[in-house]
Amino acid sequence: MASLEVEIAGIRLKNPVMPASGAYEYSEERKSFFSPGELGAIINKTIFLEKRIGNPPPRIVETPCGMLNAIGIPTGGIEDFIETQLPKMESFGVPIIASVAGNSIEDFLEVSERVAETGKVSFIELNLSCPNLSEGIEWARDRKQLFSVIERVKASVDIPIIAKLSPMVSDVAEMAAVSEDAGADAVALINTYKGMVIDIEEKKPLLGNLTGGLSGPAIHPLAVYAVFSSYRKIKIPIIGIGGIASWSNAVEMILAGATAVGIGMYNFVNPMVMKEVIEGISNYLDDNGFNSVKEIVGLAHRLG
Ligand SMILES: Cc1cc2nc3c(=O)[nH]c(=O)nc-3n(C[C@H](O)[C@H](O)[C@H](O)COP(=O)(O)O)c2cc1C
Repeated sequence: MASLEVEIAGIRLKNPVMPASGAYEYSEERKSFFSPGELGAIINKTIFLEKRIGNPPPRIVETPCGMLNAIGIPTGGIEDFIETQLPKMESFGVPIIASVAGNSIEDFLEVSERVAETGKVSFIELNLSCPNLSEGIEWARDRKQLFSVIERVKASVDIPIIAKLSPMVSDVAEMAAVSEDAGADAVALINTYKGMVIDIEEKKPLLGNLTGGLSGPAIHPLAVYAVFSSYRKIKIPIIGIGGIASWSNAVEMILAGATAVGIGMYNFVNPMVMKEVIEGISNYLDDNGFNSVKEIVGLAHRLG
């Protein structure tokens, strides 16, 4: 059987499949489907330093081939993460990615330092791209800010940094290159696209936040392109995220240049999707005569 093992910043993942931040809970019910311990890595929903209540309801709405969410990152803050979430995540015995965000560079620094001090987390993912917060995606839109926040966090913690970027820029590959120059060890591409649904009876936007982030199969080709174009500009690994609903969608992402893949919205549709994706990638490698998943990373570029 082909090897599914990949490496990001020197850290070994037993397979390239992980949840995308915010769309997967580490609850007991999950274990009745499959154990998160079977995944390559696990990640929390983004936390801020302090508690936050999130956006007013309604917070989600189904759309053709996807959904809009405007959860607004409710979080118990760093204390809750360390005391409640981290022990649960640790119990699965796979590398942990801590997704963090802040309202200022100082916030990003403090929450990252607190996470790193625990000694229990393998990576910090900087969520620089939440479209549901007033300043959320601005980090990933402004080259100078993006560079500064990554450079400063990188200098203050001794674990690898992943920059989670927004596709809502003129050229996401440029922003991936800025992230690499600033010292990011990997990039996660992509967060959601800002969108809106109007309730025609009420004659107003349906979501409490008015707008939400579009995820799911609707954005998959856009995400594949973001990964493909970034792979041509950067050398650091890419975690490909966006609309993955099947093993073949994941293989596409890897061929486009992703070292690993993150799955979000589809976990709500099919709680087995990540396990099916792991098995499907393995079968694809065997059927096509590859010895390792590493052999197909970026293979679609041979013809481009
Ligand atoms: C309900 C929901 C909550 C999300 N919360 C977060 C979050 O807290 N932090 C983050 O970086 N991304 C968050 N995302 C974005 C996902 O991590 C992912 O980047 C995006 O949904 C695209 O992948 P998908 O199409 O597989 O869902 C969220 C997405 C959904 C659907």
